[in-house]
Amino acid sequence: MYHAAKGVFDILPIEPDPSELWKSSYLWQFLEQRIKTLTSLYGYREIRTPLFESTELFTRSIGGETDIVSKEMYTFLDKAERSMTLRPEGTASVMRAFVEHHLAEKSPVHKFFYIGPMFRYERQQAGRYRQHHQFGVEAIGSSSACQDAECIDLLFTFLSSFGLKNLTLQINSIGRKEARQAYIQALKDFLSSKLSLLSEDSQRRYQSNPLRILDSKDPNDQQQLVGIPSILDFLSQESKTHFDTVIELMQTRKIPYQLNPRLVRGLDYYNDTVFEITSQDLGAQNSLGGGGRYDGLLKQVGGPDLPAFGFGCGLERVLQTLLRQNINLPKPPVVQLLLVPMGMQAMLKGFQLISQLREAQIACELELSEKRLKNVLSRASELGIPYVIVMGDRELETGYIELKQMASGQVERLPIDDLIKRLCPCTL
Ligand code: HAM
Repeated sequence: MYHAAKGVFDILPIEPDPSELWKSSYLWQFLEQRIKTLTSLYGYREIRTPLFESTELFTRSIGGETDIVSKEMYTFLDKAERSMTLRPEGTASVMRAFVEHHLAEKSPVHKFFYIGPMFRYERQQAGRYRQHHQFGVEAIGSSSACQDAECIDLLFTFLSSFGLKNLTLQINSIGRKEARQAYIQALKDFLSSKLSLLSEDSQRRYQSNPLRILDSKDPNDQQQLVGIPSILDFLSQESKTHFDTVIELMQTRKIPYQLNPRLVRGLDYYNDTVFEITSQDLGAQNSLGGGGRYDGLLKQVGGPDLPAFGFGCGLERVLQTLLRQNINLPKPPVVQLLLVPMGMQAMLKGFQLISQLREAQIACELELSEKRLKNVLSRASELGIPYVIVMGDRELETGYIELKQMASGQVERLPIDDLIKRLCPCTL
């Protein structure tokens, strides 16, 4: 007996255990459809990139000192001994594709969205998977604060369109490189006398990536951070003005936000605005999505010097939050009609009839199991199939069938040839 690997899961067409409802494929299709409709309203177009890329693309863009690169990548040598990595996130691949296809020459601004699996070798815990799925957007070409606001608005609108409550937008600016360098020095000065009191992870980060100490989950670390200087006090005038405009646009859109000067994010490519939208219903892994501005990345991977902004949103967490908040979600789709043949002749005629119905865009199925009629009917009614026809020798001889409406039990006798007209979607 084989099992799915740790931290990955199947998405099934049947309703699994109620606590596992978020693994139902019809709910994923529902989310994906919502994403496609919404992104097209904002002018974002789909990009699909490969699931693996050369390892160097990720190490260079995400940053060698980040947890993702240093601990979590699925890296392997291909048969030609090239180092490849299953994508841990979507941004780097979009940058690579943008450069490779010279898209900068085609239009001054490009707005992409994607939906797909990402791979991170994470320690297993609720809300953290080794294969998770992201809805992401990357907008390349604009340095306007309106671009930041548009992306944040898109994610917030997506999440609130389901009626989700208790969403919090956390927002911060980490400024440009010079501001960050000055801030890192101030941070290190502040923490130098408390170093031995910090967690092992934070002590390591003090050398390798001091900003990440700010979002340590260790309560003792958080205690040591009380009174820490705020990065917002280190911003250049340009960064300040940019951030003020983003905030003003949030206010105009009436998006509730919390300024969080300790929000730094776990990838190295950001500058200026960073944000996360969290849900109180998710426990420790409470980030539904996050992102920010990354103006230097495209150049860093060999492309033109263009500004960019984007986010990634974890779809497992979105579905789990929707279910936790008892949001009204669609039921599994069912066919309109089940045709149950009794005997070989009826099966042959039924096969023909069902094909004609499908050609007329009526969703229907021929019952292929050899279960007893009683069981077939009770399953049809359990599934919520609206109509059932039982077809046997009598129906074949007379050319008349009985259309049973499952909800009311009502039976309608009609010529077989009239069935399509009767069930045509416009008359249902
Ligand atoms: P990220 O914050 O690493 O950003 O991931 C985005 C979202 O993916 C998270 O907020 C979370 O909802 C979900 N997520 C991440 N890791 C896992 C996991 N192991 N299990 C379940 N869900 C997870 C990025 O990936 C950036 N590329 C976002 C971005 C795009 N920034 C600019 N453009």
